[in-house]
Amino acid sequence: MAETTLDLRALPKRDAYVQLTAQIESVLAGVTDEIAAMATISSLLHHAFGYLWTGFYRVVEPGRLLRVGPYQGTPGCLEIAFGRGVCGSAAASGQPVIVPNVDEFPGHIACDARAKSEIVIPVFDRRRALIAVLDVDAETTGRFDDDDIAGLTPIVRWFGAPRPGPGRTLG
Ligand code: SME
Repeated sequence: MAETTLDLRALPKRDAYVQLTAQIESVLAGVTDEIAAMATISSLLHHAFGYLWTGFYRVVEPGRLLRVGPYQGTPGCLEIAFGRGVCGSAAASGQPVIVPNVDEFPGHIACDARAKSEIVIPVFDRRRALIAVLDVDAETTGRFDDDDIAGLTPIVRWFGAPRPGPGRTLG
């Protein structure tokens, strides 16, 4: 399968998400492995918008600890406690978080000093249990807004959709 990474930066954001979502759905059709899905989403999203860091932190101790998962970019912090930083805040609240300027977010964890703005979207499985957060960092301030929440939320719904086979246990 030859997949092309799309560069969608020239498009209005909503149109870009329509194209990106269609591409991700097409590439993940028939896929049941969550790590493969996280890696694929990270890569396509990262290159579509030219971000600094794009990836997942997985819940390894529910309510307590996130650990880095598949990502694109410079090395991310390995572990983040619930409630710490932007990722830990989104994990603790179960709500998306947009940080227009990371210097103004108390407790922001700077894995890469070039990061200026950030968005974190919680990821739920089909039982509505939090399994990860999707974290995206950009090199410019104010890069993310409600259109990104609206665009990214359907993408991470993949993890909450029923799937047969060797993925998450159904039932
Ligand atoms: N900035 C994040 C930490 C993860 S890295 O940016 C990859 C935070 O404050 O949670």
